[in-house]
Amino acid sequence: MLAAVGSAVGLGNIWKFPYLAGANGGGAFVLVYLLCVAVVGIPLLIAEVLIGRHGRLSPVNSLARLARKAHASHLWPLAGAVGMVAGLIILSFYSVIGGWALAYVVRTASGLFVDVTAEGAANIFQGLIRDPERLLAWHTLFILMTALVAVRGVRSGLEQAVRLLVPALIILLLVVVGYNLNSGHFMQALDFLFRPDFDRFGANGALQALGHAFFTLSLGMGAMLIYGSYLPAAAPIPRMALAVALLDTLIAMLAGLAIFPLVFANDLAPGSGPGLLFTTLPVAFGHMPGGTYVGTLFFLLLVLAAWTSAISLLEPLVAWLVENLRLQRSRSVTLAAFLAWLLGLVSLLSFSRWAFSFRFGGQVRHNGWFDALDVLTSGIMLPAVGLAIALFGGWVLPRRITAGELGNGPVGHLWRLAIRYLVPLAIATVFLGMTGVI
Ligand code: PHE
Repeated sequence: MLAAVGSAVGLGNIWKFPYLAGANGGGAFVLVYLLCVAVVGIPLLIAEVLIGRHGRLSPVNSLARLARKAHASHLWPLAGAVGMVAGLIILSFYSVIGGWALAYVVRTASGLFVDVTAEGAANIFQGLIRDPERLLAWHTLFILMTALVAVRGVRSGLEQAVRLLVPALIILLLVVVGYNLNSGHFMQALDFLFRPDFDRFGANGALQALGHAFFTLSLGMGAMLIYGSYLPAAAPIPRMALAVALLDTLIAMLAGLAIFPLVFANDLAPGSGPGLLFTTLPVAFGHMPGGTYVGTLFFLLLVLAAWTSAISLLEPLVAWLVENLRLQRSRSVTLAAFLAWLLGLVSLLSFSRWAFSFRFGGQVRHNGWFDALDVLTSGIMLPAVGLAIALFGGWVLPRRITAGELGNGPVGHLWRLAIRYLVPLAIATVFLGMTGVI
């Protein structure tokens, strides 16, 4: 379970959630996102862990084994394969942002942000993302760090790290939230984040909220499925899924309350995009007592959180390479990490030489390939795989298997209702909304 928390809690909560909420108008996005976590995320998290624990193999092969057992189509493992590719694509840009976080550890520690203005922080950020050579070094370091742990095969170290990481992260976020309580723009942030305004919220916002529920809970690409395959038979899956989702949501909300009061206090644009975290928090660290230490520790923890997520992004593909191509684990990791590194170059250059804008769902995206890969994974692949997993778990897996894992009590019953009807309906509705059918 600690590994699952490590996978879920990452850049998604602290870096991505705030900028998505900002770009999509705040409250309405947050509300729909929370609904998606509760209604779609938790049942799917249970389904993935359950399938993994019963299949005991990588996502593709677990699905194949269970499909055979249920005398179902041999196409079901395709969902695992799509998820595996999604994981690789996500890792490619995740590592670039992990690189930003690494760079910020050094920048904060060096005292660069002492007394910095919002404008100064923005300039420092632009200086970094427009410098491909420097980004390449950090991106490479981040991938190497990920590969190194992955070669050793997760477990004990990872779990220890998560045990320390999560409480420490919560405390540091609370420190920034506490600082913001005095800064005077806290109420405005609360209002922005929690008062829904559906006038400017449409199908595209709903798709991003749904996609982010998948991204933040590491669903739809097999990470939770593979961690399920390592889970002891006696562990209570629903309770664990609930705990993972609650912790993950708590950290995202705290990140929102750490960032938005600063946005309003410094007259910044909430919708400024992926740089939001990196242009706001340094301003707070630059002015609070002991801010250099707090800030350095914060970015270190952010790197650690990103690291434990990145390992889980690699794991389904690595396990598949080991099982199907009979590669050694170290070779599998090297191959997968190299592919992610290579593809990462595309995102890395999206902020400078290869920058371009495009429209998707009525919204202009400014960050070229980086945004395109994000739309492709969070907006399309993860929910599509999620839909397949829901149908598989709800309609294909024999009831004796799911009841064997979840029992025949009210929890199992509720889960079955949700995974059969609610989850597919919710995902289909959002997809159809995007196509303009409804
Ligand atoms: N859940 C991670 C985060 O929020 C990212 C992630 C997505 C990890 C998908 C694994 C799979 O940062």
